Amino acid sequence: MGISKYVRQSMDEGGWIRRMFEIGISLKAQYGEDKVFDLSLGNPVVEPPEEFNRELQRLVNNPTKGMHRYMPNAGYSETRQAVADNLKSETGVDFSLEDIVMTCGAAAAANVTLITLLDPGDEVIILSPFFGEYVFYIRNHNGVAVIVPTDEKFQLDLAAIESAVTPRTRAIIINSPNNPSGAVYPSEQLAALGDMLVQKQKELNSEIFILSDEPYRRIIYDDQVYPQVFPHYENTIVLNSHAKDLGLPGERIGHIAVSPAYANRKELLDGLIFCNRSLGFVNAPALMQHVVRALQGISVDVSDYQRKRDFLCSQLTEMGYSLVKPQGAFYLFPKSPLEDDAAFVEALQEWNVLTVPGKGFGTPGHFRISYCLEDRVLEGALEGFARAAEKFGL
Ligand SMILES: Cc1ncc(COP(=O)(O)O)c(C=O)c1O
Repeated sequence: MGISKYVRQSMDEGGWIRRMFEIGISLKAQYGEDKVFDLSLGNPVVEPPEEFNRELQRLVNNPTKGMHRYMPNAGYSETRQAVADNLKSETGVDFSLEDIVMTCGAAAAANVTLITLLDPGDEVIILSPFFGEYVFYIRNHNGVAVIVPTDEKFQLDLAAIESAVTPRTRAIIINSPNNPSGAVYPSEQLAALGDMLVQKQKELNSEIFILSDEPYRRIIYDDQVYPQVFPHYENTIVLNSHAKDLGLPGERIGHIAVSPAYANRKELLDGLIFCNRSLGFVNAPALMQHVVRALQGISVDVSDYQRKRDFLCSQLTEMGYSLVKPQGAFYLFPKSPLEDDAAFVEALQEWNVLTVPGKGFGTPGHFRISYCLEDRVLEGALEGFARAAEKFGL
């Protein structure tokens, strides 16, 4: 007996990153920490900005009565207001604190939103390559994941998305900048997606949400301005996190933002707040809500990530790897020199280089490299990439 069949099966299917983590531990024990180049995890080594430490210290040195107690399940009004003000300035959309629910990161934001929206058998479109956890989040709440590939540049394939929409489609999850491809969807594509969904809703007499998962919104390169979804589609819900922009993945702090233009917004927000509680999150961590209130609009030094991207892209391209240069996030998603991406990832382990096969992101034939790492690790991995390129005839 033991654990449920469902969980056992899910663990077997979705264990790539965990498996690489375990291989990393065993290789490090065998060869030593500095001889293993683990590019498999999206756990940033960049420290949070100085403003974070200053604000944390200020709060700890000036405690206020009740600052660690239970609070309304949506979070502190002052924090929600700060998030709403920042979103208003970035999107031009008139957000108020009622549109915001503070959450335990983007993962909680996604689960809370999906359980609030889905009835059993409802479909959620996800675009490959995708963050592998989406499949489990959707299944957690009895939804059905419908996978639609992006195009060869990892951009939206509108015709493919349109033909995947059915009367059961309840939402489409988009993630820009994308994990693992680094693609950023331009405004024209988002506008076209919005127009198509408006049309489909009319045709099918249904309601379809865009769930825009934006933890990498501020990790964007080459002086681009982030293309916002809200102005293009009324039924938009943004899932966000400070895991990447403030370098706080362990602190579990993020939010849900509902478009003020959505017709049934009051009921939706009541549902989200109820599910934040009933899923057992109860509320986002109190101390972090106090801290991030003062840090809206601030982010880690993105130029450092851009430098790492440029370094790896040029080195790997020179070796013969084929890749689309990412415009954001901190991953590369090159083509695997072997058709079997898992076999290639395994071959790289011969030189103590750890990456993740594309099948973990719904896109076999590729592999993911994470570069939110120290330069020493990126530089150390180059020899393995070069030897593999040679071995597999690039
Ligand atoms: C695309 C994407 N969405 C969501 C998450 C989860 O973020 P959080 O740690 O805030 O839950 C991640 C984390 O890596 C991610 O890459």
